[in-house]
Amino acid sequence: MKIIEIEGEKNITGTIRISGAKNATVALIPAAILTDEEATICNVPEITDTEALCDILKLLNVNFKRSTESIIVNPQEMINTEITEEFSKKLRASYYFMGALLGKYKKAVMYFPGGCSIGSRPIDLHLKGFEALGATVKNENNKYIVEAKELKGANIYLDIASVGATINIMLAAVRAKGTTIIDNAAKEPEIVNVATFLNNMGAKILGAGTSTIKIEGVEHLGKCFHEVIPDRIEAGTYIIIGALCGHMLKVDNVIPEHVDSLLLKLEEMGVDLEIGKDYVTVIDSNKTLRATNIKTAVYPGFATDLQQPFTVLLTQAKGKSKITETIFENRFMHIPYLKKLGADIELKNQTATILGPRDLKGTEVVATDLRAGAAMVAAALIAKGTTTITNAEHILRGYEQIVEKLTTVGAKITIKEI
Ligand code: UD1
Repeated sequence: MKIIEIEGEKNITGTIRISGAKNATVALIPAAILTDEEATICNVPEITDTEALCDILKLLNVNFKRSTESIIVNPQEMINTEITEEFSKKLRASYYFMGALLGKYKKAVMYFPGGCSIGSRPIDLHLKGFEALGATVKNENNKYIVEAKELKGANIYLDIASVGATINIMLAAVRAKGTTIIDNAAKEPEIVNVATFLNNMGAKILGAGTSTIKIEGVEHLGKCFHEVIPDRIEAGTYIIIGALCGHMLKVDNVIPEHVDSLLLKLEEMGVDLEIGKDYVTVIDSNKTLRATNIKTAVYPGFATDLQQPFTVLLTQAKGKSKITETIFENRFMHIPYLKKLGADIELKNQTATILGPRDLKGTEVVATDLRAGAAMVAAALIAKGTTTITNAEHILRGYEQIVEKLTTVGAKITIKEI
């Protein structure tokens, strides 16, 4: 097990550069197998979720070359074999191979995906989408066999604007015959990034980033070069850390528009920010913060992934704040540990009520999932004394070089394996 240890109350100042977006990368790598030639993706973050997807590429006999920031994927010798339970369960995004393999070979065999335990996270909308395109889905003990004689474009309405279902259906539909329309599609920037990648290969996708996406199937997808967008959740996490304990903390390589809902909330709370074309600087955290309420929502609403680190900021705001989680039913696993650190939080159904400000004191806490782990890091940075975060593997799934990045700006943070 990996353990992160943080000595709190240090001055955080300097520049943190944001890496490529995890949630785009984890879709782009499976999407790359759709090319009939070769796909180059740059600005790929070095996180364990990327490694897990590369392991699946190996299993499928896909040639790929990984260098520091890029990956070149050549699927010309690929074999469409079953993705075993071990590989499927390594991460949530393994499910993107379902759409990509179905699109390319009209058959995909894999198991229910893994990922953070933040709710039941069914994949029914993905499967309904595949069925609408003409596939049959068999499920035997969590093993999914999805196959079609032929994929035919269809009109698909998503009951929930799901990120995963939108991308997965897009991956299958690019190689279907005719036109597919996805209505009530999710609008997250990562979806636009994936659609641009596929269009660079020769796909015909219109409307990504709006709630109606139109995909005209094509027979061939060619060579392409693509860049992963900056990670808006990583950026948001460091901006929150800046608001907690930063002084002139510049979070660089950001698309500020992608974190608009967060920036507006921070300004409402009284955080001084300088928002540039591709950076956000937190001027000084040494201010009284006003309490506020947030409700998570699909993009461009307040991101559920930032809800957990944002809770830490609310423990430092004066008065009563509320967080309502509307996307996942179990995304409050960080609350007991924040309380252990000294926060005053009451959790009732899907709403957390936070009374602040409260001083936090270092102790042993657990990173129960990726963003809960980020919340623990943020809390530890302001806590008195030392905080030990166990199960830190979760954090490394989504934050590239978090220890190095925070050390550069003055944090006292170490990671070790026990
Ligand atoms: C993605 C992100 C995750 C983020 C989430 C919401 C990746 C790898 N993960 O997760 O970081 O928190 O979007 O922005 O990109 N749902 C169903 N049936 C389905 C699919 C989803 O009921 O078939 C429900 C989910 O349980 C959840 C809601 O829809 O309650 C939204 O889920 P979705 O947008 O699909 O999230 P993920 O793609 O799992």
